[in-house]
Amino acid sequence: MSFNLANPVNTALLVYILYTVQRILFPPKSLPKTIPTEFKNGYSWMPKSHPPTLLYKKYTPKTLEPFNGQEGKRILLAISGVVYDVTAGRNFYGPNGMYANFAGRDASRGMAKQSFDEEMLTSVDQPLDKLQDLTPEEIDNMKGWMDHFSSKYIVCGELVENDAI
Ligand code: HEM
Repeated sequence: MSFNLANPVNTALLVYILYTVQRILFPPKSLPKTIPTEFKNGYSWMPKSHPPTLLYKKYTPKTLEPFNGQEGKRILLAISGVVYDVTAGRNFYGPNGMYANFAGRDASRGMAKQSFDEEMLTSVDQPLDKLQDLTPEEIDNMKGWMDHFSSKYIVCGELVENDAI
């Protein structure tokens, strides 16, 4: 059997093969002039900015306090030594939120006693609240809140004494 180029099918086939081989050997270089920042034509793109990252670190009552959500900034609160980033719950903990008193503070006692009274909060220059007088029910209640917070917010650090770092 011979390959007869006079046959238009063969000619078309040959052209197609040559074209395909040429594409493999010399792929088109269609590199964009600027790096794309959104997914449009393929996977070679860079996000506009790095996604927000959270650094797990130690906080003291004093260093935690500024994270009270004022001026749209991050909101952190602590329960039993665990610091949660509750920025996503700004409606609750932001400046006009129902639980704004807990923003930037150790909320353990308030969570345990289900109260946002002022005396639930330990002054930031005092040693950490040891919670020793709490009843087992109150401790359970506090742990229930910790479960709630762990499932909803990001744990971003631990609360230690002012002189510990
Ligand atoms: C007048 C009594 C209260 C009412 C009407 C009330 C109402 C609410 C409502 C509607 C929610 C939202 C529930 C959801 O969508 O998941 C909520 C959440 C919450 N409440 Fe209360 N509450 C009251 C008292 C308290 C008290 C005394 C505390 C003190 C610890 C408290 C702490 C919280 C916390 C920590 C959340 C979770 C917010 C979050 O998911 O970030 N509440 N409350």
